[in-house]
Amino acid sequence: MRIDILTVLPELIESPLGHSIIKRAIEKGIVEINLHNIRDYSRNKQKQVDDYAFGGGAGMVMCVEPIDILISRLSNERMYDEIIYLSPDGERFTQQTANFLATKDNIILLCGHYKGVDQRVRDHLITREISIGDYVLSGGELAAAVITDCLVRLLPGGISDETSALTDSFQDNLLAPPVYTRPANYKGWLVPEVLQSGHQRKIDEWRHEQAEERTLRLRPDLFKRKE
Ligand code: ADE
Repeated sequence: MRIDILTVLPELIESPLGHSIIKRAIEKGIVEINLHNIRDYSRNKQKQVDDYAFGGGAGMVMCVEPIDILISRLSNERMYDEIIYLSPDGERFTQQTANFLATKDNIILLCGHYKGVDQRVRDHLITREISIGDYVLSGGELAAAVITDCLVRLLPGGISDETSALTDSFQDNLLAPPVYTRPANYKGWLVPEVLQSGHQRKIDEWRHEQAEERTLRLRPDLFKRKE
């Protein structure tokens, strides 16, 4: 999979991509992530990428031209399955969206800043808008990092234990069951016996029951969606 991230602040995304699972997936060639600085595509002498809003009002608006030049250049090189604008107005990002996007070959993530992008970008250049939650970030970069992280762990070989992405919370609309490691007794706080029984069918049953109980208690809305 190839992910192109379009931003005015590439430094903000470099760090989350440079460690752990994503770093390893890049090294193994499972994902290719390219950061593009929108400023490099400004024809303006000062490399300006934003301007005042028509009609007045506080806040700057990201200009259509540099974004258009950059997206056109990338689209001439390959077909993009999705060109996504990250915005609090977008559809809510869920595990289902992640599962869907992880099957794609090429996607673009466009990070907004300031008051957002010129509406013509949204009308003519992108295929969908995604929000990572009902709150406003200073820009789309952290949202792009969240989505990238979530997609990479779903790619075949993206995490070493392939089954573990399938047992993540939210797969199957269930929260994950509790997990324990050694010691079995810490200050009298005990690990449930069934997990030490070695009886795999009983362990699987217990985990499923726990996942259902947790979901009903903490996220009954998810449980409803399951039915
Ligand atoms: N940009 C600003 N806030 C955002 C959000 N909640 N999700 C995605 N992109 C954003």
